[in-house]
Amino acid sequence: MTPPRLRVQFIHGLEGSPQGAKARFLAGPFDVIAPAMDTSDFAGAIEAQARALAERQPDVVVGSSFGGAIAVELIDRGLWRGPTLLLAQAALKLGQARRIAPGVPVLLVHGLRDDVVPIEDSRALAATGTPSLVRLVEVDDDHRLQTLVDSGRLSDLVRTVAALGRHEDARPAAAAPWSQDLYQRALAFAARAHGDQKVPGSTMPYVVHVALVAMEVLAAARVDPFDADLAIACALLHDTLEDTQVEAAAIDREFGPRVLAGVRALTKDEARPKPQRMADSLARIAREPREVGAVKLADRITNLQEPPRDWTPAKRAAYREEARAILAAVGGASAPLAARLAAKIEAYGAFVDDGPLEPSP
Ligand code: NI
Repeated sequence: MTPPRLRVQFIHGLEGSPQGAKARFLAGPFDVIAPAMDTSDFAGAIEAQARALAERQPDVVVGSSFGGAIAVELIDRGLWRGPTLLLAQAALKLGQARRIAPGVPVLLVHGLRDDVVPIEDSRALAATGTPSLVRLVEVDDDHRLQTLVDSGRLSDLVRTVAALGRHEDARPAAAAPWSQDLYQRALAFAARAHGDQKVPGSTMPYVVHVALVAMEVLAAARVDPFDADLAIACALLHDTLEDTQVEAAAIDREFGPRVLAGVRALTKDEARPKPQRMADSLARIAREPREVGAVKLADRITNLQEPPRDWTPAKRAAYREEARAILAAVGGASAPLAARLAAKIEAYGAFVDDGPLEPSP
């Protein structure tokens, strides 16, 4: 029986394309996924590649030059931890992540005659990460590394890094353990507190909203582990102080001071003028553990759905602006949630008049 073909996600460089020489070569021995991306938009390119990673689950990622910088950033944000081949990577040159996260198998290849990206950049990057999992191969070539294609060596390198992925030191992010009992307790507490309240503009019980927020933080904790219990409790209780009669003392008694501090930061201060409330809350969230920021990201991800019909264009645009402010203020709390919120903000453009211009049919 022939072994299944390796699935390779190829991230091309500035001058490359999903149909370039390297992608076409790789499509011989491997199943190649080469998502299209706009190389003038780094954040958008990250999103496009992250989406493909989640949907297609490749065995190996190959990043070339600019694409190498994208791959390094995906690793740094915890969006990819599998075997990665970096060809003349441009991460340091583009001012992106300057290190490889521990536990990730990475093979770097760089040409000694590269006059676009100095080989010292790959030497510096290769000095990071887990030593048993990171290798640098220096070859007699220039930036394009065309000899790898001409000699067929590129496929050997892909297989080498795939094998590195089976090394005992290679480890997927450890999923954070969390307590189902705490989830149950906090959900019941929130259900009692919110009573008959509905999700605005719908007939759904309000607790559906907080359960969705908790679901988002749990999904994020799987790829980028944090204290999931703290995040769950804050997610399920995040609107109790703002929208119900619940007393802070009851949260403190049932869930402890850390959860209370998180819920407080997520609560707008009604003593302040309305336009200042979000910025004030975001500033307080930023001083809390990152789990609290993750809840704020998850809250807005959950809320960025089709707006109620009676919302004016100005209100929709303001809501999107506010989402951008949230992303800017607390995006660092959780890379997977930040990427997901960025995608939701983009999609919300369809409900805003000045959304991205569609090419006319
Ligand atoms: Ni909420």
